[in-house]
Amino acid sequence: MPTQHSTARVQQSEPISNPAADLAGGACRLAISQLTLTSFRNYGFERLDVTAAPVVLTGANGAGKTNILEALSLLTPGRGLRASPFGELARSTSAGAAQEWGVAAQTHGPSGPVSLGTSWISPEHSATQASGRKVQVDGSVQKSSGVLGSYLRCIWLTPTMDRLFTGPASDRRRFLDRLTGSFDPGHGYQVQTFEKLMRERNRLLDQAKQNSAWLDGIEHQMAEAAIAIAAARRTAINALAPLLAASGAASRGGHFPWVEIALVGGLEDSIASGSAIEAEESYRQHLGDMRERDSAAGRTLDGPHRSDLEVIHGPKGLAARHCSTGEQKALLIGIILAHARVIQAAFRGFSPILLLDEVAAHLDEYRRAGLYDEITTLGAQAWVTGTDKSLFEAFGGRAQYFTVTDGKVRP
Ligand SMILES: Nc1ncnc2c1ncn2[C@@H]1O[C@H](COP(=O)(O)OP(=O)(O)OP(=O)(O)O)[C@@H](O)[C@H]1O
Ligand SMILES: [Mg+2]
Repeated sequence: MPTQHSTARVQQSEPISNPAADLAGGACRLAISQLTLTSFRNYGFERLDVTAAPVVLTGANGAGKTNILEALSLLTPGRGLRASPFGELARSTSAGAAQEWGVAAQTHGPSGPVSLGTSWISPEHSATQASGRKVQVDGSVQKSSGVLGSYLRCIWLTPTMDRLFTGPASDRRRFLDRLTGSFDPGHGYQVQTFEKLMRERNRLLDQAKQNSAWLDGIEHQMAEAAIAIAAARRTAINALAPLLAASGAASRGGHFPWVEIALVGGLEDSIASGSAIEAEESYRQHLGDMRERDSAAGRTLDGPHRSDLEVIHGPKGLAARHCSTGEQKALLIGIILAHARVIQAAFRGFSPILLLDEVAAHLDEYRRAGLYDEITTLGAQAWVTGTDKSLFEAFGGRAQYFTVTDGKVRP
């Protein structure tokens, strides 16, 4: 088992497909034309009609700008950009809390016009109706939110991600796994499966009398999931790395520094240097050998749950965590834009919707203008927020502008 902290730097010479080449045919626009919120956060009932152009939302602190982006993010698989418990999203006023909420949108993408909806009903409220979250596509109820990914793709950047490079590795892993999920829709499930199995292994290791046969079985399944996770992460990084390395090229008019991105993790290393079957067997064996150590530690010390994402500011050759706040923001935007290009190539030329919360804060005038140019080139319906409209002047007539005040959105 290689050490967990050796770096698997992505080899630029590896055979990789260049998704940028698939974009030559020009951009199609994945867009929302109407968004409706019902009893969602600070919104009572609000309907917003927009064109396919970028949407600029400005307003005071607490007006409801991020809530709009969160509502949009709930129309994609998963728990949305704040990952809040669904019950917290129901509108709460001095008269009490709503027992249900809903978000619906008319979308236009590769499948033509489709209406998507998601709603939630409180368990206390639903004597007759099924409680919990419900997802609808063109009015028909779906089994899970996973299906939304066939119609709508969103990538988001929020102020909480400003600490991505300086904060805990777990945040970067979640970010990496979200990136990976857009290459491999089954990735999130594998990550959940691995974590569940690992908790079970930790529980068994904690018992005075260990059941060896049971542990063998769990570790076998853990190794399978771990290798699938590591392989999917490598595929994602291999697709993104060349785009990121070229992102600052003058030929592309890049406004964001080129980025070197690498996976840091023993399993990802093993896959790079040998076969997946060997790596799986070696990890399974390692888990078996390390039972005593892991039992003493009270947790599984090696595996894909310890991997990290290393990001380097290309022109400076400096680790992202040592860069300035604005430089870190620019690096993140560079990654998000490259990710959008990869999704666009895979999603029949449709750029994902970009949800960019407070993105102009920390960016200088040159980078702000550069961002709006890149959004325009990408052909993305970006939803951007800020407290001050002047931050968006460089967008000019290329965007549509709305003011948000106390749960109301007006042109
Ligand atoms: N369940 C809820 N019911 C009612 N109001 C809520 C609920 N959840 C959040 N809010 C309120 O929604 C308001 C708007 O939140 P939001 O995060 O969208 O503001 P914002 O416009 O993005 O502000 P900022 O510029 O500070 O980021 C906040 O005042 C918050 O208290
Ligand atoms: Mg906000």
